[in-house]
Amino acid sequence: MKIRRATVLDAKSLAQVEQTQPLSAHWGEKGFCTEIPQAASQIWCAEEGENLIGFAALRFTAGFGELLNVAVRPEFCRQGIGFKLISRLINQVLEGGGEQITLEVNIRNRAAIALYSKAGFCEVGRREKFYNGTDDALIMSRNL
Ligand SMILES: CC(C)(COP(=O)(O)OP(=O)(O)OC[C@H]1O[C@@H](n2cnc3c(N)ncnc32)[C@H](O)[C@@H]1OP(=O)(O)O)[C@@H](O)C(=O)NCCC(=O)NCCS
Repeated sequence: MKIRRATVLDAKSLAQVEQTQPLSAHWGEKGFCTEIPQAASQIWCAEEGENLIGFAALRFTAGFGELLNVAVRPEFCRQGIGFKLISRLINQVLEGGGEQITLEVNIRNRAAIALYSKAGFCEVGRREKFYNGTDDALIMSRNL
């Protein structure tokens, strides 16, 4: 398994990965094509052979990172890939002199919350009924 920076050529495969995970934010191929070339964008993907099996996306500006999305194809979950992707993003922010990374996650998304906790993120706040007017958003943050 290889982890590398995504390019616009990966947009279709990235969109296919997010389709396999309903809890992932869904940007679609066009969304990835718009996001990847942005100066603040960091999208890294995991590749097994020729197949893209996961990705993590972050925006990094003015010393602060915002983790936007992470998804791993279900058949490759629980093999440490999500953790490796998040760790790579954290290293990118560290190397860029960043101070903090924040994120929002649905309070019912136990897998993602456990992954972020393992990566050193802590709860710093909540937004009530943020998702679909029902589920709270947990705001998590990691100082670097
Ligand atoms: C969240 C997600 C990216 C995790 O990817 P993954 O490759 O399976 O994660 P890892 O194997 O690296 O797991 C790292 C840690 O996360 C936690 N974790 C991962 N999946 C879990 C699950 N289903 N239940 C509980 N904890 C889980 C564990 O603490 C795990 O460490 P451990 O294996 O030592 O116990 C994956 O489940 C996914 O794609 N979910 C749908 C998309 C999503 O919800 N994205 C977040 C949007 S904010």
